[in-house]
Amino acid sequence: MSDKLYIFDTTLRDGEQSPGASMTREEKIRIARSLERMGVDIIEAGFPIASIGDFESVQAVANTVKESTVCGLARALDKDIDRAGEALKNANSARIHTFIATSPIHMERKLRMNPDQVVEQAVHAVKRARQYTDDVEFSAEDAGRSDIDFLCRIFEAVIAAGATTLNVPDTVGYNLPQQFGETIRQLREKMPNADKAIFSVHCHNDLGLAVANSLSAVLSGARQIECTINGLGERAGNASLEEVVMAVKTRKDFFDCNVDHIDTTQIVPTSRLVSGITGFAVQPNKAIVGANAFAHESGIHQDGVLKHRETYEIMRAEDVGWSANRMVLGKHSGRNAFKTRLAELGIEFESEEVLNDAFSRFKELADKKHEIYDEDLQALVTESDLESSVNEQIKLVSLRVCSETGETPEACITLSVNGKEKRLCARGGGPVDASLKAIESMIQSGTELQLYSVNNITSGTDSQGEVTVRLEKAGRIVNGQGADTDIVIASARAYINALNKILAPAERAHPQGGDV
Ligand code: KIV
Ligand code: ZN
Repeated sequence: MSDKLYIFDTTLRDGEQSPGASMTREEKIRIARSLERMGVDIIEAGFPIASIGDFESVQAVANTVKESTVCGLARALDKDIDRAGEALKNANSARIHTFIATSPIHMERKLRMNPDQVVEQAVHAVKRARQYTDDVEFSAEDAGRSDIDFLCRIFEAVIAAGATTLNVPDTVGYNLPQQFGETIRQLREKMPNADKAIFSVHCHNDLGLAVANSLSAVLSGARQIECTINGLGERAGNASLEEVVMAVKTRKDFFDCNVDHIDTTQIVPTSRLVSGITGFAVQPNKAIVGANAFAHESGIHQDGVLKHRETYEIMRAEDVGWSANRMVLGKHSGRNAFKTRLAELGIEFESEEVLNDAFSRFKELADKKHEIYDEDLQALVTESDLESSVNEQIKLVSLRVCSETGETPEACITLSVNGKEKRLCARGGGPVDASLKAIESMIQSGTELQLYSVNNITSGTDSQGEVTVRLEKAGRIVNGQGADTDIVIASARAYINALNKILAPAERAHPQGGDV
């Protein structure tokens, strides 16, 4: 059995299924690059049949990523598999991940199929996927509530049809660690051809057990874990990549497989990137990537750590990418230094024009804020300047706010809308409220604000504020980001960024919607 534990990241697919976590194609490419730098084995880039946008995102990730395998999800339907095959055509290494539900409740109530029909459709799907790639994963959706003998039967059949990875999802997060580990052990024991495929697990976190269940499965011989950055995912989320990887690395003594190929120093930058893009903040006490994960508050702990680090620390903060805020660039840094540092952070520019634009924003920032950290640079390019494909109908030209004790704040905004300048003033409860009201009165988008959040990027009152705005219209949800040392300007940018996204047409289907 392999002593390597394969890390399959599904942030761009299951992670995106979290309501409000939708990502643009450029955002997906940035996250995929970061995962590739980390050494993730497989990146599930999306569900190509869902929409043109999803198809193009998977295609773009497949065209960009060279080191990791790029995977596309497909129900066990010809049209899904053909679409996934087409999207992955240019990938260096492509995987098709096809699935069908196997639990009695899903087969009877959702699929309205009997077990024989389900096996037949699964086998057909795997054979069809093999026409596009030798790397085919089959998932038994809701395996966590499926009959073990039926799982053995369907898995045996799909291996014979050409599946190379068998995924056992706890789709509804119902299992307990001992029970889930036992399922994997029994499958491996009972199936005569079990050694012909890699066993994978995909655990949801409804009972807060996704990581524990995944690790228990590894102890029973699973060699692939499906997980997401920050544990993002449908409902309570998926097993969190950072927790899985650090558990296996830190407890090397306990596991008979390893994650030595993962560059764990990329964990915190990737976590930040995902949180910035999706607007899903990381709770401060979240393991590994939370702001307090390595902070020792109690005097006894601080004293112990100072005397001998291992008294209270089982991992080193720098091993997961926490760097003490380090000044990287300043006002005198040139364009080349700027470009080089961003490349080290995995950010590349599509054209000289986009680079020049970002560089002039950097210069503006450096005038206001003397010390520029990596976090500032990342925020600087999180905005629309990298998103050339987002149809930027609206641009911020200027913003003036007036806020005084005892007076109602007022904001006057000039926007360029489809190349035409418009100006409007509005009053509000505060300068941010007044600014967003002015923009909305001009654009009349009819969207509903679902989330507004501000985070300081670095410490100090001259820090940039990073604003996330989530808008909803007719069931479609988008996130917009903006950053500036002036949080009113950051807010206006974030709102405009979200408006530009929501004004671009899009429609998508949910993979587990049930119309198989
Ligand atoms: O949770 C689940 O069952 C899934 C499958 C599509 C693998 O996401
Ligand atoms: Zn899932």
